[in-house]
Amino acid sequence: MSRLNELYKKMVYYYREDPGRIQHFVKVHSFARLIGQEEHLEEKTLYILEAAALVHDIGIRPALEKYGREDGALQQQEGPQPAREMMRGLGFAPDVIERVAYLVGHHHSYADIDGMDYQILVEADFLVNYYENGMDQEAIKKSVKKIFRTETGKQLAKEMYFPEEFQMSETWAQDGLQDLEDFIEEQGIYIRQ
Ligand SMILES: [Fe+2]
Repeated sequence: MSRLNELYKKMVYYYREDPGRIQHFVKVHSFARLIGQEEHLEEKTLYILEAAALVHDIGIRPALEKYGREDGALQQQEGPQPAREMMRGLGFAPDVIERVAYLVGHHHSYADIDGMDYQILVEADFLVNYYENGMDQEAIKKSVKKIFRTETGKQLAKEMYFPEEFQMSETWAQDGLQDLEDFIEEQGIYIRQ
């Protein structure tokens, strides 16, 4: 069995009896992997991204236990240590563990995104949180514009939350032909049949 699957199962166990949290990271991992593959991340970066997506919210449990709160800052503070321990126990390479721990410790900070693994983790988490938090459409649009960078992430957001932007006008075919004719005229191209 792959290490990532081992980590996946450990996280299910970690959040046992809490299907909401389990399904959250499953969705974030799935979007992250899809975006990472479609954006052609190199193998190691994709591997780090997948591991980070699985464990990204590991800090919620210790934050709740210690402080009775689970805000983003506390999650970032409490997450890296249990992530390191879990991954060490499964034999992940030290450099992979360190980058994942860094991502866990920063995934609610959007000012200093320093790599595609970080960028895509944030996008995948937003894609899931917009829905889970019931955010309204205008707020989603603004946040996508501000934060999303990958074409795949933007496409997923649009298709899930504002698909009307994809609808074609009733005259789109005609408009298209007109554009083409204008272009041909501008270019002085003469088309013979
Ligand atoms: Fe999350």
